[in-house]
Amino acid sequence: MSDVNSIVDLPKVELHLHHEGAAPPGLIRQLAFEKKIDIHKVFAEDGEYAFQDFGHFLQIYEAATSVLKTPEDYARLTKAFLEECAANGSVYTETFISPDFCGGGDVGAWQEYLLAIREAADFSEKRHGIILRGVVTCVRHFGPDQAKRAALCAAETTGDWVVGFGMGGNEAVGHQGDFSWSFDCAREAGLQLTTHAGEFGGAESVREAISDLNVSRIGHGVRAIEDMSLVQELAEREITLEVCPGSNVVLGLYPSLDKHPIERLRSEGVKVTISTDDPPFFRTTLRREYEILHAAFGWDADMFREINKTAAQAAFCDEDTRARVLKRLETPCETT
Ligand code: ADE
Ligand code: ZN
Repeated sequence: MSDVNSIVDLPKVELHLHHEGAAPPGLIRQLAFEKKIDIHKVFAEDGEYAFQDFGHFLQIYEAATSVLKTPEDYARLTKAFLEECAANGSVYTETFISPDFCGGGDVGAWQEYLLAIREAADFSEKRHGIILRGVVTCVRHFGPDQAKRAALCAAETTGDWVVGFGMGGNEAVGHQGDFSWSFDCAREAGLQLTTHAGEFGGAESVREAISDLNVSRIGHGVRAIEDMSLVQELAEREITLEVCPGSNVVLGLYPSLDKHPIERLRSEGVKVTISTDDPPFFRTTLRREYEILHAAFGWDADMFREINKTAAQAAFCDEDTRARVLKRLETPCETT
């Protein structure tokens, strides 16, 4: 039986993290102050983010994001959250970055934001050793036309740093297939694909993600558990789920972590990985996710090591970077 310290201290890989969703509330408050923007509704009395349900969460997320107005703001954001990620033992992370928030879908503006983010990521890699790669995302409730602009931004900047394309946002709006043009465009540009499904949509949304968008990873995907033939298909096709257990409990998918299907999915052979989604919004950290999973399911350090290896194998980065990450997973963490 592993003790909890040997588990939370493990080097980790995180595949599902929203760039703005990682913003420390103190940074958002500071930017609001500097720009004289009133966003007091975003925060609870204790200074943390506050929302009632998923729809309200998306509103609060976008209100917090409204203070991030320039490439320089995104550089500050990137450095701030990468320090947190590194302190949590993360050695590699991919973030979802949306051209909708970074220049409104304009390719030239997007390139400026991306440059600032990459420079900040290089700084953080040198200082903390953490590697960041970008997954450009469209936002489902902004609609298919805006998603096309995001895909064109992604296609224009595909390379060793922008490695994937995906979709977040409200699953209640439209269908995965409405966005097939954007996903085809991103695939043709050489990007690997993921989409949010099986979070607020049921098992059928996971099926649509596979059949209509042909993704190799799924954001959340946990409600696949409602259809065991789909679970089997996920296992057979080796589709990796980016599972965010704490997020799912806070947003009310499951009443408590011990009712979460991650262990059942894993034992059925589905490739599961562990992420935080929007950690300060859900009052969590990557270390905390490991701690609560250990408490709920008794997973030991070897289990978490295996899951991190699965995440490294499913990362969208190039093979040299993957080899570096796999090596780092074998080395005890030095948090800086
Ligand atoms: N955007 C940020 N977090 C999200 C989530 N959990 N689901 C869908 N869209 C999101
Ligand atoms: Zn998400």
